[in-house]
Amino acid sequence: MTEEWQGWREAAETALYGDGGFYRSPVRSPEGPAGHFRTSVHASPLFARAVAGLLARTAGELGVGTVALVDVGSGRGELLTGVLAALPDGLEVVPYGVEVAARPPGLDPRIVWCAEPPRGVGGLLFANEWLDNVPVDVAEVDGDGVARYVQVRTSDGGERLGPPVTGADAAWLERWWPLSVPGERAEIGLPRDLAWARAVGSLDAGLAVAVDYAHVRGARPPFGTLTGFRSGREVRPVPDGSCDLTAHVALDACAAAVPGAAELTDQRAALARLGVGGGRPPLSLAATDPAGYVRALAAAGEAAELTARGGLGDFGWLLHRVGASPEHG
Ligand SMILES: C[S@@+](CC[C@H](N)C(=O)[O-])C[C@H]1O[C@@H](n2cnc3c(N)ncnc32)[C@H](O)[C@@H]1O
Repeated sequence: MTEEWQGWREAAETALYGDGGFYRSPVRSPEGPAGHFRTSVHASPLFARAVAGLLARTAGELGVGTVALVDVGSGRGELLTGVLAALPDGLEVVPYGVEVAARPPGLDPRIVWCAEPPRGVGGLLFANEWLDNVPVDVAEVDGDGVARYVQVRTSDGGERLGPPVTGADAAWLERWWPLSVPGERAEIGLPRDLAWARAVGSLDAGLAVAVDYAHVRGARPPFGTLTGFRSGREVRPVPDGSCDLTAHVALDACAAAVPGAAELTDQRAALARLGVGGGRPPLSLAATDPAGYVRALAAAGEAAELTARGGLGDFGWLLHRVGASPEHG
């Protein structure tokens, strides 16, 4: 293999997180992820408010007055900032931003900025659109029906087939994303399973939640979902550091990588449980409280975006309770 050709996982690791990589370079990405795509966090403060509610519920279940909030893949700390602004009275929070990028200037000094989740804390670990950015290898079935690693040329994103997929990667494909038809492709999610299990394992007690574009066995996209984003547009994935590289997450496989029970649901259902959803405010409010009506109407529009079919509402929410605590309501 020449130096130019690499497996997708290795190429994306360098392109996203190497020195000067897409997520590390303040020049390429001065506004952070928000400059390139819109997550639920950027769509509406209702999302942070819902997470604040989940945090308060978790603290109540743990029976503690001080809880940790660990935001994995924290971007520029937008979610933590929003949650801190929405905390119910009396709840003490130790917020951690877990990020490969440097601490943003001007961030609330209460936020602890770190490269790895703190170990042994109790509270809520939340990862919004983190796992889709954990680099994975890509497999494609050749004309003889053999699944091979796809290799990519870092300069222009050109691809060719490499050696057959073997070992733990082959076992993962067989269990989670079986391939057989020539031309079919899959993203091998094993590194995400391991990353998620490690993150959940850092928590002593509480709740761990991963939110992401997701698919499950039986409904995998036949050609995978690897793509790029730059400045708000979807672009061809080229691992040269110029764009985000993302692929939807096999959240059912991540769920099975963590011991104990897990719940997999969608954002629409999860946010409904946290009080986000509902419909438009009653028209009668417009007469009695016009300003309140306008505010409620704007909130209803934001809630609709967060819960939309074919949009953010279809995102997967994977929830794990850690330590002994009652059922999530
Ligand atoms: C798609 S952005 C999401 C940002 C934010 N959570 C949001 O929803 O707006 C993914 C973030 O995860 C970070 N990230 C990826 N892998 C990471 C890792 N292993 N440790 C810490 N941060 C990571 C990236 O640097 C990037 O800021």
